[in-house]
Amino acid sequence: MILDGTLPQSIAQAAYALQRGDLVGLPTETVYGLAADAGNEAAVAQIFATKGRPPNHPLIVHVASAEDVPAFAGQVPAFAQHLMAAFWPGPLTLILPRRPCVGAAAAGGQDSIGLRCPAHPVALALLQACAAHGIQGLAAPSANLFGRVSPTTAAHVQAELGRDLLVLDGGACTVGIESTIIDCTRGAPVLLRPGQISRAQIQVACGLAVLDKDAMHTMQAPAPRASGTLESHYAPRAKVRLLSAQDILDKLQALGPHANNLGVWSVQRPDDGLGAGVLWRAQPTTAEQAAHDLFTVLRDLDARGVLQIWVQQPPDTPAWEGVRDRLQRAAA
Ligand code: TXA
Ligand code: MG
Repeated sequence: MILDGTLPQSIAQAAYALQRGDLVGLPTETVYGLAADAGNEAAVAQIFATKGRPPNHPLIVHVASAEDVPAFAGQVPAFAQHLMAAFWPGPLTLILPRRPCVGAAAAGGQDSIGLRCPAHPVALALLQACAAHGIQGLAAPSANLFGRVSPTTAAHVQAELGRDLLVLDGGACTVGIESTIIDCTRGAPVLLRPGQISRAQIQVACGLAVLDKDAMHTMQAPAPRASGTLESHYAPRAKVRLLSAQDILDKLQALGPHANNLGVWSVQRPDDGLGAGVLWRAQPTTAEQAAHDLFTVLRDLDARGVLQIWVQQPPDTPAWEGVRDRLQRAAA
């Protein structure tokens, strides 16, 4: 059931459902989440069951403001405080040392916890209504089946998880790819998942160089499990191939009228080779707009039954890191 998230009675109904231990589809500025009371172990278990997600893959806990962080995290390093001050509410998740007695199920048993304050009026209204009922945080992974493309509209959530789920409609997500994740448990910021907030922005806000998770095997602590960091993830049913603009043109020409069940996401509409069997979508030239469109395009082409999606390889510049990351995983 989809409810208009801008109506106070929808927020009240969703808060009541969460209090009862039910799940709710939640709009955020990045992607839609599948939310449960982070303090309710049975409800959190229901998230894992619904998504088909392995129970040791930790979830992000969403909070109404930075003031709620001490309820979940024991020590918050100064650089993490700076990042919250600079980017919250916003598309940034911080991994912090977890208080031993809270959020264990949401954290997948790890001794750290992922926290994020989303910049979406519907999400914030729900978090505040929940706080009034004694719910301190909402555990919410992206509202898709494990390994699949994250939903960026309420209709996507319903298509993915069924009509019985209560989904708050907050419109299409403005960012379109998941939050940047920074591990703050290792003394310096470590980038676990790129997103709209870039390494450079992180570096400026906290005055520390951002380390790569790949460099972490040289450090002592084991790398945390993060499903968004699995090599194959964010995958549509169709096979995704990353190609240069020229390769796309050459291959379309070679196939000619035989091209079938094919989706193409490229910057320029090919003049030749766009027969009835080829669906073309325009790839935006800015990273922000491309992130916004990415999952919608993959989902839409999938829904139209294409068997392959040829994607023009985006530029190899820092602004595109988040989009490149999702595309590489979709193609893996
Ligand atoms: O933008 C987002 O972050 C969206 C919206 C709904 O907020 N959420 C999202 O959740 O992408 P999910 O579960 O699909 O991805 C969360 C990522 C996973 O890769 C998970 O492993 C990682 O965060 N994560 C969560 N807690 C962690 C922890 N304690 N240590 C390491 N990684 C963690
Ligand atoms: Mg996800």
